Amino acid sequence: MVTRTLCAEGHLIDSGLLSNILNTILQKGGDYRITSFDIGKTPEKSSKFEIELIGKDESTINSLLHALKPFGVYEQEVTQAVLMRASGDRCAPETFYSSSNHRTEVFYQGRWYGVLHQRMDASLVYDPATDTFACVKLRDLKQGDLVVCGSESIRIFPIEAERTANNETNDSFAFMTNEVSSERSVDIAVKKIADELRRVKAKGGKTVVVCGPVVVHTGGADALASLVRMGYIQGFLGGNAVAVHDIEMRFFGTSLGVDMNTGKVAEHGHSHHMRAINKIYGCKSIKAAVDTGVLNSGLMYEIVKANIPYCLAGSIRDDGPLPETVTDMIEAQRQYAQIIDGADLIIMLSTMLHAIGAGNMTPSWVKTVCIDINPAVVTKLNDRGSGQAIGIVSDVGLFLRALSDTIASLG
Ligand SMILES: NC(=O)c1ccc[n+]([C@@H]2O[C@H](COP(=O)([O-])OP(=O)(O)OC[C@H]3O[C@@H](n4cnc5c(N)ncnc54)[C@H](O)[C@@H]3O)[C@@H](O)[C@H]2O)c1
Repeated sequence: MVTRTLCAEGHLIDSGLLSNILNTILQKGGDYRITSFDIGKTPEKSSKFEIELIGKDESTINSLLHALKPFGVYEQEVTQAVLMRASGDRCAPETFYSSSNHRTEVFYQGRWYGVLHQRMDASLVYDPATDTFACVKLRDLKQGDLVVCGSESIRIFPIEAERTANNETNDSFAFMTNEVSSERSVDIAVKKIADELRRVKAKGGKTVVVCGPVVVHTGGADALASLVRMGYIQGFLGGNAVAVHDIEMRFFGTSLGVDMNTGKVAEHGHSHHMRAINKIYGCKSIKAAVDTGVLNSGLMYEIVKANIPYCLAGSIRDDGPLPETVTDMIEAQRQYAQIIDGADLIIMLSTMLHAIGAGNMTPSWVKTVCIDINPAVVTKLNDRGSGQAIGIVSDVGLFLRALSDTIASLG
């Protein structure tokens, strides 16, 4: 038999992590002996335990360690990180550690280092000049970069283990996390999200919206524009279509050719979005259209006026695209990541494509809200390892109007 001493700390009991750890050991053919257990007696206090992990051979132990890592378990006798040099640009050593979206630390030179720019699916690179570790996408690796290999020297902090300790008092968001609300409870969800938006704004924090064109088709663009105008949104992520249809609506009163007042298809309405793009081409850019008064209302108008950072990421479906649409996908991902960096709250509004893209760049401790009419999309987005996610199955137009009315009524 081979044994190792493992540790874990945090909110192990109320989060269910303890039972997950012990069940995983047994299910994977190992055994354990709890050698010490310090139970946090109040919700604010965390617990810590040590166990002796028992496996029939070295390979069983290694596979158990691998399976237990996502629960925040680490070896008591932790070994220093193995750093290997990238053999070329974009070329990590074969055994490179691939990151998760949870807070991560690396054991090196006798101490634990926090990892910067946390995101999933990246390598971890050590920079001797700054004495820091950071997540670096494979495509950004440079020849000679020092890359962390293996997972022995890594410990991660699952959000479940940290949640209770990190929650500020009266954090109403916490009551609803990891639920998918159906129409019945949308009113409650709207109130909680309004509270959260106000809280983030009051502390000078950052709320980022990820937005699809359905917001315009369903009549939600004005409500969202009013949130931008009132200073609740600090970053905007979308694609070509949300801007095209918002601008179409301001110029022609239609979205995808449908009259927004009557709900009927307007005569020649099918060409309106192309005429909207053409008008912007005539001004050279959306910003120039706003500056010259050609575009004088709407979502894109408020975003430009408020000077909040935004990125319209291109896709193969795009008409035009608009001058500001970023068609270089690597550059679009870079801009998305930059806008997400430091966000307190991300609200994903009816766009599977961009919401998943944004989710991939977001650390697990950032609160996220996803609104989509399709429960499968909401579940899929909530299920991406984000520890603090609210999912709402609703028409996005109804949701946004209710949210902006609630905010306005709260003053
Ligand atoms: N003319 C154009 O240039 C054009 C037109 C359409 C899309 N696009 C581009 O294609 C890409 C994908 O577009 P997307 O993000 O719209 O598609 P998507 O399929 O990724 O997401 C649309 C989401 O909206 C949800 N939805 C539909 N009706 C809803 C409602 N009433 N309330 C709430 N949710 C609702 C759907 O369930 C779906 O999950 C984007 O980059 C977009 O800019 C371009």
